[in-house]
Amino acid sequence: MTPALTWESDGPEATAALGGVLAELLRPGDLVLLRGELGAGKTTLVRAVARALGVEGPVTSPTFTVAQRYAGRATEVAHMDAYRLEGPDAEEAELLGAAIAGDAIAFVEWPDAVLAALPEPRLQVELQHGGGDRRLVLLDARDAHDLELLGRQLADIRARHLHSESEPGARSG
Ligand SMILES: Nc1ncnc2c1ncn2[C@@H]1O[C@H](COP(=O)(O)OP(=O)(O)O)[C@@H](O)[C@H]1O
Ligand SMILES: [Mg+2]
Repeated sequence: MTPALTWESDGPEATAALGGVLAELLRPGDLVLLRGELGAGKTTLVRAVARALGVEGPVTSPTFTVAQRYAGRATEVAHMDAYRLEGPDAEEAELLGAAIAGDAIAFVEWPDAVLAALPEPRLQVELQHGGGDRRLVLLDARDAHDLELLGRQLADIRARHLHSESEPGARSG
């Protein structure tokens, strides 16, 4: 992926703020691909989007179940982890198709082995470890308009964050 946008997260809360931005952008039927090593924060990001969409209860890694589906306020969230899939043979293609069918907002972690079975994603996100709680977040979008919007909103998150850091007592540590 040639990232169109890069953004630095300095901890799970910043990644959750990105999730809030994605929750506002995404619409039923959209697909998001998530890449990055184990522990990079893919599931953390999906959980934040799900929360912002009104999903209650645990949102856990679907590594063993492969696919999970959650009901939000206005839309369903489909969350898949293709880590254990080997390629889109007929059975896996059917599984993925069923998992992202309908009007859910869908997220697929480790999508590369099964790309052929997936529709075109609206967004692609890669998280890279940057030491400690830092993550470099690379984003790409199908539509230039989405990128523009995300770029502006990510700059806003950073500005708000810097502002809160500069307020005495705003961070308790
Ligand atoms: N900036 C960050 N963004 C996301 N997660 C972070 C960050 N810093 C630390 N973490 C921690 O890293 C872990 C990421 O795990 P997870 O989201 O399951 O990763 P993945 O799904 O990519 O394997 C979580 O324990 C999370 O709290
Ligand atoms: Mg995960």
